[in-house]
This record gives sequence, C-alpha cells and structure tokens, in this order.
Amino acid sequence: MTTPTPAPGSVALITGGTGGFGRALAMKLRALDVTVVLADLDSERNRQVAADLGCPFVVLDVTDRSANEAVVAQVEAEHGRLDAVFLNAGIAGFDSEDLFDLENFLRVVDVDLFGVVYGAAAALPALKRSGGGAIVVTASLAGLAPMATDPGYSVAKGGAVAFVRSMAPRLTAENITITAICPGFADTAIIDPIREEFEKAGFPVLTADEVADAMAAAWVSGEPGAAYIVQPGIGAVPYTFKGVPSAKTEAGETAVVPEALRPPSMR
Ligand SMILES: NC(=O)c1ccc[n+]([C@@H]2O[C@H](COP(=O)([O-])OP(=O)(O)OC[C@H]3O[C@@H](n4cnc5c(N)ncnc54)[C@H](O)[C@@H]3O)[C@@H](O)[C@H]2O)c1
Repeated sequence: MTTPTPAPGSVALITGGTGGFGRALAMKLRALDVTVVLADLDSERNRQVAADLGCPFVVLDVTDRSANEAVVAQVEAEHGRLDAVFLNAGIAGFDSEDLFDLENFLRVVDVDLFGVVYGAAAALPALKRSGGGAIVVTASLAGLAPMATDPGYSVAKGGAVAFVRSMAPRLTAENITITAICPGFADTAIIDPIREEFEKAGFPVLTADEVADAMAAAWVSGEPGAAYIVQPGIGAVPYTFKGVPSAKTEAGETAVVPEALRPPSMR
C-alpha cells in the first residue's frame, strides 16, 4: 500500500474514534486536510479527546442500528459528503474463567461484528452519493488465527474479515473499496488488562501509529476484500488466503460455480 493522499476536502468518519487507533488515525488524516468526525460512546473524556484533536464529535453506540444511520445523516448534513468510514470501535472479552462465558461472548460479537455490519449498511448510501469511497474495518489477527482466551473476539473478528471479503465484489461495482486491518497486539487501552504479560515476556507490541498508517493507506490504496496483517517488525502485509478445494464434476473436472451465485463483477 502507498502513502495516503486523500483528496483535499474529503470527509472521514471513525467509530471508536477517541480510542488509541482512532486518535492516531485522526491526527494523520487531519494533517492531510481531511475533515475527520469521531464517533464514540458518550463521555466527557471522549468529547475532550475530540476537541483536543480539533475534530467534531458525535455520540454513537455502534450496537444501535438506527444510531449508525443517524450519525451518517448528521455527517452528510454538517459536512456535505462522506468519503471514508473506519469501522474501528471494538472491545475485548478476555474470558478469565476456564468455563465459556456466553454473556461475554454475545457482548463482544454485538460490538465487534454487528457494530461493523450496521456501520457499513448505514454508510453505503452516503458513499454512493459521494461517487464512491472506502470502508476500512479494524478486525484483528484474532480473526485469522484463533484466540483461545477470547473466543467471542475471534468469532467477531473472523466474522468481520468474512464480511469484508464477501461484500467486496459487489461494492467494487459501486466504486467503493472495503478492506480489513488485522493488527497483532498494539499499545492501546484495550490491552490494559494483559499489558503486564507482554512486558514480563518481552513480547513486542505495535504502536497505535503503525496501525493508523495501515488504516490510512487502506483508504487510498487498499485492494478490495484484502485483510492486511500488521505486526511488529513486519509492517502491513496482505494475508494470503489459501482457498478451498473446488468441487469436481463426474468427469473429474473442476466444477464452475453457477452464474447466479456469482456477483455481476465475477460473471
Ligand atoms: N490494541 C490492540 O491490541 C488491537 C489489536 C487488534 C485489533 N484491535 C482492534 O482495534 C480497534 C480499536 O481498538 P484500540 O486498540 O484503539 O482500543 P481502545 O480501547 O483504545 O479503543 C476502542 C474504542 O472503541 C470504543 N467503543 C467501545 N465500544 C463501543 C461501542 N459500543 N460503540 C462505540 N464505540 C465503542 C471505545 O470507547 C474506544 O474509544 C478495536 O476494534 C480493537 O478490537 C486492537
């Protein structure tokens, strides 16, 4: 991915915008003359973070479907357009017990997966009205490799990656790219409960800035449907999906998926 150069006057929305990645990304985009709207849960702290960054703040709980629509409508009404949406809000579950905690699981999936789906659905009409744009989803390495201590997180992030990959072909036809960013552990508040473990083990964690670089680059030069791994010492690299074996016909030839099951761009 190349250095981002969004068109001056572009408008971007970041959910979970006052958290670690959101702040780092907002600073980068502001420096490129992008109008950056930060959406996050309502708190004095979050409003102050946005004010300090010089960004408009909107209250959003991403699990509230209609609130996602209202936020997009507000951004369009106040800033005239929407060019990029960073669906970045997220929480971790970190099961502390050996037993499976169903409530924890559902809470994480609600925020980290359905928050992404509602956000994308709300943003699509506005991106189309802008003539196209980008949706960048903050997934996680946990969506590509199982996270045994947090199954809800793995399911949500794996679902987010599957959502990105399955939506990409139809959105490409609308000039909208959708990509996933899959960082390893990074130095933000979300790892506070386990931060000590990394320090004790001398395990390298990413800076928020490294992840924000990948998010910004995905907006401008992300490949539709790609999942970019971000790891310390590696940078951002697209994950290579291995694919699945194709069905064989009776004659032993590779079966072709029926046209009706392929999006128009793949017929
Ligand atoms: N830091 C890491 O190690 C790491 C690694 C991989 C992926 N991620 C993902 O990156 C994203 C950003 O996390 P971060 O590392 O900046 O952590 P963070 O805790 O600093 O930021 C998360 C933000 O999401 C917001 N949020 C939580 N629930 C919300 C809801 N229901 N509605 C709206 N906003 C909500 C929080 O208020 C916070 O501002 C998350 O999706 C996280 O899962 C983080």
